[in-house]
Amino acid sequence: MKLSNAVAFSLVSLPGAMAWGGLGHVTTGYIASHFVSNSTEAYLKQLLGSREPDYMAKVASWADSIRYTKWGRFTSTFHFIDAHDNPPESCNVDFERDCKGTGCVITALANYTEQSLDPSLPPWRRAQAAKFVIHFVGDLHQPLHNEDASKGGNGIHVKWNGRDFNLHHVWDSSIAEKWLGRGKPYPLAEKWSRDLIDEINDGIYTEEKDTWLVDLDFSDPIETALAWSRECNKLVCKYVFPEGPEAIVGQELSGEYYENAAPILQKQVARAGYRMAAWLDLIVDEYKKRDASFTGKRPTDDYDEPIDELVEEMEDYFGEL
Ligand SMILES: *[C@@H]1O[C@H](CO)[C@@H](O)[C@H](O)[C@H]1NC(C)=O
Ligand SMILES: *[C@@H]1O[C@H](CO)[C@@H](O)[C@H](O)[C@H]1NC(C)=O
Repeated sequence: MKLSNAVAFSLVSLPGAMAWGGLGHVTTGYIASHFVSNSTEAYLKQLLGSREPDYMAKVASWADSIRYTKWGRFTSTFHFIDAHDNPPESCNVDFERDCKGTGCVITALANYTEQSLDPSLPPWRRAQAAKFVIHFVGDLHQPLHNEDASKGGNGIHVKWNGRDFNLHHVWDSSIAEKWLGRGKPYPLAEKWSRDLIDEINDGIYTEEKDTWLVDLDFSDPIETALAWSRECNKLVCKYVFPEGPEAIVGQELSGEYYENAAPILQKQVARAGYRMAAWLDLIVDEYKKRDASFTGKRPTDDYDEPIDELVEEMEDYFGEL
């Protein structure tokens, strides 16, 4: 079955509850597309079927849009790792203890990195793998995707401007929305990315940006993802639950808590985008090497994903919202 890009892209532009979401993921996509090499950009534009500057930003939330569909259900535990630690006294991620048998964000990043390198896979599978990689690098940088307490804060009720929200939502969306003000998600994310790119190139992150890549070891995606996850999980003790998960219940977070959290969130988005670019450059270089020496059967371009079923399901799902 051959599918037009129009259909494939209509999938990513459906409205939905976009976790870390609209804004965080899309912004990391814009940042990464600024820092990737020219050859990575050319390769990914071709693979993802877009010549537009938002070729990465547009796919950064795709993994969230499929996770609640029947087809995508197998990915539902790939977006996080439930650190069974004890904030605020101790924060840590233990791979054996915390990664679910059905997979976690650590194994997912490794899995889809490997698939994106595999010349025996057809292009649509490598495209899908790249979209997962782009998304999971983002999730690894949201503190509450690296913490178990009350399902990553989903079960913790707090106040935001006097209204009830759960803490996970505050870190996914409310903090960024307050920082950026009102507007359409893509233009807001694009503007946010420009600010953060400036801070990386010539601003508050310039001196430290090289340290952001010290844990990156392309020969060991599991250890790399774990290092990023541990760094992020540490923020849970300091900024997410400075006085523990019980003390935060019912608290108003749009004031002082927000003032402390916003710079942390910004740095996490900047780091995610910068690391994503470095990771994708390594993927594309390695893929090209493997592809050049590949002697197996050439995969065809045929799009044999159960896509009709998926579109139908997504219409059902989003239709209900
Ligand atoms: C990458 O592309 C940009 C814009 O097309 C160009 O200005 C730049 O020289 C290129 N860089 C390299 C290393 O080829
Ligand atoms: C790896 O990816 C494949 C293809 O999407 C999936 O079926 C499998 O469950 C994944 N495995 C892990 C451990 O993430």
